[in-house]
Amino acid sequence: MLRNRVCLVTGGASGLGFKLVQRLIAANAKVCVMDKSYTDSLLHSQDAGEGLHLFEGDVTKPEDISEAIKTAEEYFNSPLQVMVNNAGIGDESDVARTININLKAVIDGTTLAVHKMQMEKVAGVIVNVASMGGIYPMPFAPVYAATKAGVIQYSRSVYERLESYNRAQKGKDQIIRVNTLCPSFAETPLLTHLKSSIPNGAKIVDALGRALTADEVADCFMTLIEDEQKNGAILRVTNHGVTYQNEKYFQ
Ligand SMILES: NC(=O)c1ccc[n+]([C@@H]2O[C@H](COP(=O)([O-])OP(=O)(O)OC[C@H]3O[C@@H](n4cnc5c(N)ncnc54)[C@H](O)[C@@H]3O)[C@@H](O)[C@H]2O)c1
Repeated sequence: MLRNRVCLVTGGASGLGFKLVQRLIAANAKVCVMDKSYTDSLLHSQDAGEGLHLFEGDVTKPEDISEAIKTAEEYFNSPLQVMVNNAGIGDESDVARTININLKAVIDGTTLAVHKMQMEKVAGVIVNVASMGGIYPMPFAPVYAATKAGVIQYSRSVYERLESYNRAQKGKDQIIRVNTLCPSFAETPLLTHLKSSIPNGAKIVDALGRALTADEVADCFMTLIEDEQKNGAILRVTNHGVTYQNEKYFQ
């Protein structure tokens, strides 16, 4: 299903995004990564061959996201069909930056990708990365929790907003899906930073039990991307397993 599909993954130089990029390449997708830096990354274009392109940009600048989409389409000579808004930070000391990266950039990335997919009349899927912290309170990181709650509500609302557009499409060829991924703590540099930057961070994180591996989270990413039945899905993944929160509010 993913063979030759053009994908854009923000924040793909590290952690969960990095693991997803590896999976997409293994599925023969054409992957453009957008990250602010590759200095500490294990990602190098030449290792992955023609299926990977690295774009350096800042998701807080909509013009950079726009340029990344354009570059991906030109580089692979095909329209964008998979957009993963994954870049995120956990920095309670910089409220504006946290909101801009974790929430505003997800909104901008979704808006630009939907617009492109509609213009080019292709089927597409957008996966936005939230967190279990968008569902349950995080007293030690309230700003982060607020941004992630915002991502869930935003994505779910865009899904409902696209329903009439999707209904008007004749077949599956032009359906645009929007899904949300909510992992609990997972072993990545972001978690290491969280543990060391908040008081009793390691204790708080360890009290919740085993952190997920990036591989476990990548399985969920792939489900939301590949399974055409998943639209408007809010997938929660924790060390207790995978569940969906999928209520329709107004029926
Ligand atoms: N690790 C966890 O415990 C966990 C749990 C739930 C949700 N998440 C979410 O998963 C996503 C990925 O996090 P991760 O744990 O892999 O973190 P990470 O720090 O390993 O990776 C995040 C990536 O985003 C990039 N990035 C940050 N700001 C950027 C910007 N302005 N422009 C472009 N790229 C930027 C970083 O350079 C980095 O490569 C985030 O949205 C995070 O909130 C993580």
